[in-house]
Amino acid sequence: MRFIPGVIPAAGTLSFSFEGREVSAYPGETLASALMRAGVQVLRHTRIEDQPRGYFCGMGVCWECAVFVEGTGIVRSCGEPARPGMVVRLAEAGV
Ligand code: FES
Repeated sequence: MRFIPGVIPAAGTLSFSFEGREVSAYPGETLASALMRAGVQVLRHTRIEDQPRGYFCGMGVCWECAVFVEGTGIVRSCGEPARPGMVVRLAEAGV
């Protein structure tokens, strides 16, 4: 099933963890979308000044939405579909 913003799919939800917290997502929904719905705004911190960063362009250009996915590495959460059981953490400093 494809996720269409603004349309709540009839299918059920899946869940993944972010920093140890369970987050639900619709099939096909991106990590960024699910995290925003869950109230998560900070996805990484800057290397030099440790400033919080999060979703910005929403189209895979800025990398502000980078997160770390176990088994995969650093990804742009705005372009990464949520999958059941994913373990997601704040991206390490320097991304
Ligand atoms: S929000 Fe800009 S790359 Fe994801």
